[in-house]
Amino acid sequence: MLPFALFSQGLLTNTGTRNITSLDGKWNYIVDPYENGYYNFHSEVFDQKNPTSTSAFYNNYHAKNKSELVEYDFDKSPTLVVPGDWNTQKENLFYYEGTVWYKKSFDYKLDENKRLFVYFGAVNYKADVYLNGTKLGVHEGGFTPFNFEITSTVKPQGNYLVVKVDNKRRIDAVPTVNTDWWNYGGITRDVTLIEEPVLFIQDYQVQLKKGDNTAIAGYVSLSNEVQNEKITISIPELKIEKEVQTSVDGKAQFEIDIASNTQNDLKYWSTESPKLYEVFINTSHQTLKDNIGFRTIETKGSDILLNGKSIYLRGISIHEEYKGHRATSESDALTLLTWAKELGCNYVRLAHYPHNEYMVRLADKMGLLVWEEIPVYWTIDFKNEATYNNAKNQLTEVITRDKNRACVIIWSMANETPLSEARNTFLTNLINYTRKLDDSRLISAAQLTRNENGIGIIDDKIGEYVDIIAFNEYMGWYGGDLATTPDAKWTTPYNKPIVVSEFGGSAKQGLHGNKDERWTEEYQEYLYQQNLLMIDKIPNIRGVSPWILTDFRSPRRVLPGIQDGFNRKGLISDKGKKKKAFFVLQDFYKKKKLQFD
Ligand code: GCU
Repeated sequence: MLPFALFSQGLLTNTGTRNITSLDGKWNYIVDPYENGYYNFHSEVFDQKNPTSTSAFYNNYHAKNKSELVEYDFDKSPTLVVPGDWNTQKENLFYYEGTVWYKKSFDYKLDENKRLFVYFGAVNYKADVYLNGTKLGVHEGGFTPFNFEITSTVKPQGNYLVVKVDNKRRIDAVPTVNTDWWNYGGITRDVTLIEEPVLFIQDYQVQLKKGDNTAIAGYVSLSNEVQNEKITISIPELKIEKEVQTSVDGKAQFEIDIASNTQNDLKYWSTESPKLYEVFINTSHQTLKDNIGFRTIETKGSDILLNGKSIYLRGISIHEEYKGHRATSESDALTLLTWAKELGCNYVRLAHYPHNEYMVRLADKMGLLVWEEIPVYWTIDFKNEATYNNAKNQLTEVITRDKNRACVIIWSMANETPLSEARNTFLTNLINYTRKLDDSRLISAAQLTRNENGIGIIDDKIGEYVDIIAFNEYMGWYGGDLATTPDAKWTTPYNKPIVVSEFGGSAKQGLHGNKDERWTEEYQEYLYQQNLLMIDKIPNIRGVSPWILTDFRSPRRVLPGIQDGFNRKGLISDKGKKKKAFFVLQDFYKKKKLQFD
């Protein structure tokens, strides 16, 4: 019997090329606002108090005869599609926040010398996971992956995987109770069974050595602490074949001097040519293949250097939403990133939480640099240690998942968090932790600014600890006057690259008028023209990611006939229609490209 896991076990990476079986598709569900399937009538937790209780929904119990009392039945219950949010699949769940139970039945013949894991791309927000009535564990955080081992719990036939999904908002959660996006609930990303040999490759990193683009360095860690296990890292196109052995902890570090190990010049990954190499990790038990790009990213004074060359981040902010529902598939990701390319972008800010792996792997292929962020958003409970550990866990999971993606250049710790000592401590601790986990990328956070005598001041204390100073400004929408915006002045004490992580204004697509009429496309168009003129004059400016690529759902946006539950700051409507401002930004990026590339 597996020990009861409180948080997810060692995360499996690069799941796409492992031996997987999808559990996507229709799952039965039960809506349980009173959590009747989790607590008994005295609010005691079944899986702690009386795990075999037939009233506990995770036992998927069926009456054995006509007189037995059972008050639920998954198999007679309706279905939801996984991956997907429940809000846009069922009208009566559109505004629902609470517990929904999901059940999936499956058969699986597991050979003797194999192990089996169940992997979730993401579940929003808190998942209690059970297999055949056994609790596998709990995961908190709606936007990062987790997995549990089920080797000793799975049966050849009649398995029932039950997930209690709870998207109730809580003060101490990450994010906390107030956000400007829809709190989509459900099993929102793929669910897969992953079969592994007894000793398998748990995780690895293969990247250019920090600060040295003549060496590839990294590690491979095995699932168990086995010493002297032979591992080969091979990159056929570069004729690289490196053999290493694990040490007592089952981990093997390696460094490959490119020059002496290959006749072929290494092509560095860049936005112009996003070169990915096939990399193979071989052990005597398995081979894993990955597509990995090699590039250096650093800052020098106010410059951001990609492969040693100064770049300008021509960006756009994106929510993980497509046409009014949670984006879940590779094709959703492709459409969103293709629109970004059409804008002339070389960079995307994935807001305000880690998006699905399709987004990041496609950005790697398409040559789009990526800002990834954890949802430390607005008024997080900064004094709460559990909240900090939750944020730290989400960082760990996204960095573990995406650390081999060349396109990911920035880890963002937070967005628009109010200034306080507790907040500063919280964020600097996260920054220091991130540097330990991955010192090869840049760190930032979307900051707020202050105004003194009409001058915008970017001097948030966190600026001392980050690599890129990023701030959000809404001149001409939440304040300021568009006519004078181009002359607005900004100053900062930090000699670091500056990125405007958000600016923007709303327009209802198809609503026209003159440029000072809010909500019209002409107003948004003018707002972009004026803000881009201003941004071009900001000292050390090295990039921008306007808010936002497409209109997106938000319960905070209720203006009838205009917003109707959508934040309308998109350059593209929720129906996929471009607004006039789209072309203002496209023009601006054409000029920037000529200037910097
Ligand atoms: C904020 C915030 C976004 C929000 C946007 C807006 O800056 O970061 O999440 O949607 O402003 O008000 O539209």
